[in-house]
Amino acid sequence: MRQAVLVEPKHIEFREVEAPKASDLKEHQVLLNIKRIGICGSEIHSYHGCHPATSYPVVQGHEYSGVVVATGTAVTICKSGDVVTARPQLVCGKCKPCKRGEYNICEELKVQAFQANGAAQDFFVVDDDRIAVLPKDMPLDYGAMIEPVAVGAHATVRGGDLKGKNVIVSGAGTIGNLVAQFAKARGAKQVLITDVSDFRLEMARKCGIANTLNVAKTPFKEGVKSIFGDEGFQAAFEVAGVESSICSLMECIEKGSTIVVVAVFDKDPSLSMFYLGEHELKLNGTMMYRHEDYLTAVDMVSSGSIHLEPLISNRFLFEQYDEAYKFIDENRATSMKIIIKL
Ligand SMILES: NC(=O)c1ccc[n+]([C@@H]2O[C@H](COP(=O)([O-])OP(=O)(O)OC[C@H]3O[C@@H](n4cnc5c(N)ncnc54)[C@H](O)[C@@H]3O)[C@@H](O)[C@H]2O)c1
Ligand SMILES: [Zn+2]
Ligand SMILES: [Zn+2]
Repeated sequence: MRQAVLVEPKHIEFREVEAPKASDLKEHQVLLNIKRIGICGSEIHSYHGCHPATSYPVVQGHEYSGVVVATGTAVTICKSGDVVTARPQLVCGKCKPCKRGEYNICEELKVQAFQANGAAQDFFVVDDDRIAVLPKDMPLDYGAMIEPVAVGAHATVRGGDLKGKNVIVSGAGTIGNLVAQFAKARGAKQVLITDVSDFRLEMARKCGIANTLNVAKTPFKEGVKSIFGDEGFQAAFEVAGVESSICSLMECIEKGSTIVVVAVFDKDPSLSMFYLGEHELKLNGTMMYRHEDYLTAVDMVSSGSIHLEPLISNRFLFEQYDEAYKFIDENRATSMKIIIKL
């Protein structure tokens, strides 16, 4: 079978390797024929050699959909021919977070495509507890996007009950867009998404987020006031990874509210701890997702509550993996999700 290996930054090598055999499957393993892979922002960092937790050589691909080819003897979740996706998290099951059921923050967490090999190959073996079966009519491309959708599902759970609240999502990349769509789907009164890119805000509007604000053109406070008036906002998500963004959210959010920090900051921001204390603000982290978030993501996409089509910028063939990265580099401002077709 074909396998794409990122042997070192900016160098993808295509190898012909032996495919895993159905006869070698352990009882809880599933053999998949990989069909689609989404490229995510963190993988772009790995490609450029600036993802601190990537070890090379590595097989990328952690957002994928595939068809079940064979199952181990104890597998009941899926059968041959089913279209599925799977979580890329390898966890220990023994540490305290794992024992509490919070395995997304396992002390020994390894994420496939970063600290373990991912699915950028024709066939791939996964454990059945990480599998989510996709509805028959779900496009394979959408199946490969369940992973980022699940990030939105989990982040919005970390934001507490959003019903009836005005919500701001700062940053309208793929993740911010999906967080905003989830906030709306979870009953927020109004959702405002901000960015410095009109293109990204246009994509958000195409996905049904009506309130958008370009903070490079209109000051944050003024823009928020023009949309929420005196109501203000009661929950926020920082998905830009920018100091001015988290500071604006902290300064303007209603006292006692929660801000979820979704973005990975390259550089730690300088925040007013005095302000945080005085306003009884809650800053919540969020880390990937758990299985229930995958299942929610599948339901929300298949019911049409979450729109994915506008987010897909381009599709490339497996042999064009390198070209896909070049396309991303050359079209940063006007591209979102890139899908690899096998
Ligand atoms: N917590 C998690 O589990 C998790 C999972 C996946 C990704 N992430 C992180 O989420 C972040 C977003 O991911 P993405 O793929 O959407 O990235 P992205 O780079 O596509 O999106 C970030 C967006 O923020 C915008 N931005 C820049 N300055 C801004 C400002 N001052 N105000 C508002 N927006 C501004 C950018 O224009 C861009 O559109 C990344 O940091 C990523 O690493 C976290
Ligand atoms: Zn991802
Ligand atoms: Zn663990």
